[in-house]
Amino acid sequence: MSNVVVRLTRRWPEAVEERLRGQCQLVLDDADRPMSRGELVTALQACDVLAATVTDRLDAELLSTPDRRCRLIANFGVGFNHIALDAARKADIRVTNTPGVLTDATADIAMALILSVARRTGEGERLLRSGGWAGWSPTSLLGTQVSGKTLGIVGMGRIGQATARRAAFGFGMKILYHSRTRLSPVEEAVFGATCVPDLGKLLAEADFVSLHCPASPATRQLLNRETLGYMRPHAFVINTARGDVIDEEALADAVRSRRIAGAGLDVYELEPSVHPGLMGLENVVLLPHQGSGSRETREAMGHCAADNIEAFIRGEPLPNPVN
Ligand code: DGY
Repeated sequence: MSNVVVRLTRRWPEAVEERLRGQCQLVLDDADRPMSRGELVTALQACDVLAATVTDRLDAELLSTPDRRCRLIANFGVGFNHIALDAARKADIRVTNTPGVLTDATADIAMALILSVARRTGEGERLLRSGGWAGWSPTSLLGTQVSGKTLGIVGMGRIGQATARRAAFGFGMKILYHSRTRLSPVEEAVFGATCVPDLGKLLAEADFVSLHCPASPATRQLLNRETLGYMRPHAFVINTARGDVIDEEALADAVRSRRIAGAGLDVYELEPSVHPGLMGLENVVLLPHQGSGSRETREAMGHCAADNIEAFIRGEPLPNPVN
């Protein structure tokens, strides 16, 4: 057992905590709540490895904390926009993430949001539970058919492709995509995907627009008043990426005024706060950042982070470095 001190900022799946307990000096808090800024400063001074999650905002000021001991931030998650990578590099702190293992779970939730918002399942459930259901009728709660429609994917990385696969093979959807990197013709042929370099054109043609790009200065509020204006009135926005990619106020206005038909969201700019303009809208499905939330996936994410921590302890190359 090594003397390396590993601080979990949140509780991790039991099997992973057990694995780490056998390898290092594991410090965790049974309360399992987001750590305050002060607690994060103390942790950076007291641990060798900060095992962080999306609920820890590790900005440049925090990472330049004096007398820090931390040399590795092992993020439990693939997205790392909550960590100031340049500042970490300057502070000689390595950062790792957990790519690959949450691809399927997140694509499943994107598909669930597409189906929920189009077929109005949230509204239906609320009606039934409130006691307001008067029985079947030919015209009540009519939604939009998903099968055969056009899905516009923004960001054709692993999760974008997994969503395209589900949509094309499961629902016969036509796939358009807009991405920094173009797929090879062979990859495009797998799900009959067409690359649309002009984002406005993709937004104008899609029945569903699903966001799968990372949060970065380049993608900040990619969907805003102007770009939402390209979408058609019957189209829906789906977001399982990061809240920062959407101007939430503009989205709420577009849905409320029926400029677009609705939205299915799993992520928000100021989590756990949700823009109040979205909260009261019936044609918006709101999930609490559940994309990777299957037991199997969260355990795999933990093991992936543990692989990075153990490599650090042994002084070996890190499997998933991001800085
Ligand atoms: C991820 O891995 O990025 C998930 O959204 C959880 O942070």
